[in-house]
Amino acid sequence: MNEVELIEWYLSAGVDCICGKDAGFKMPEQKKAVVFENKQEETVSRPAIKESRPAITDLAQVSMQAGQNARTLCEQSDSLDALRKALDSFEGCSLKLTSNKTVFGGGNPEAKIMIIGEAPGSDEDRIGEPFVGKSGHLLDSMLKAIGLDRSQVYITNVLPWRPPGNRTPTSSEVAICLPFLKRQIELISPEIIVALGGSAANSLLDREETISHLRGKWLEYKEIKGKSIPLLASFHPAYLLRNPAQKSKVWSDLLRLKKKIQNN
Ligand code: URA
Repeated sequence: MNEVELIEWYLSAGVDCICGKDAGFKMPEQKKAVVFENKQEETVSRPAIKESRPAITDLAQVSMQAGQNARTLCEQSDSLDALRKALDSFEGCSLKLTSNKTVFGGGNPEAKIMIIGEAPGSDEDRIGEPFVGKSGHLLDSMLKAIGLDRSQVYITNVLPWRPPGNRTPTSSEVAICLPFLKRQIELISPEIIVALGGSAANSLLDREETISHLRGKWLEYKEIKGKSIPLLASFHPAYLLRNPAQKSKVWSDLLRLKKKIQNN
């Protein structure tokens, strides 16, 4: 792999700038403009990066084309089964290459409540079902606490493929896969959406806010066709496993959900 290919590989993996003098390889002259040093005393304004533009533009074009292909496949899918097959045939997201299984969605497709997480973890990637690992067990307990179980909900993720090492998905991966989630929501047609974690909430609401700011109130997911669905955001179970002190906030979110179900 030559240096230009290496940089292009970094770009495709979502790395769009390199911090620090020692990037582990020598940047070729024409690419040097994209190196930002960690100098706090200086304001480093983004230099003109004319020479590196073609690589970024190519990647952006590939991503846009992949997103367009995804939207076309989704428009042609008029059932969950068709959508699952469309996703199986879709080759526009590189996460598919590094994962073992496509994790579509699971639970009751007639459910009024749709729960949406970020992406499969290692257990989900092995088994091919959403939320079957430790986070899933905690999710089961959360549901049980308000009298629900998996037969009363439909569960899916923003991404159907596990990002390597459970890293945070890039915005381009989310953008490419989002049409599949949006179509899944249209086909399930839930009365209530529960978004677990900031990634799911922000992707659905098209915002960039912290989950602490988004949780604790009813928000609205707007479908492409104009319909609005009440959306409740809360902490992701994986975050709760690491920060059990936040469980009280999730409990209040769950009570809010329970009240809404009773009033619907
Ligand atoms: N975390 C998620 O967001 N989704 C899963 O399916 C499992 C863990």
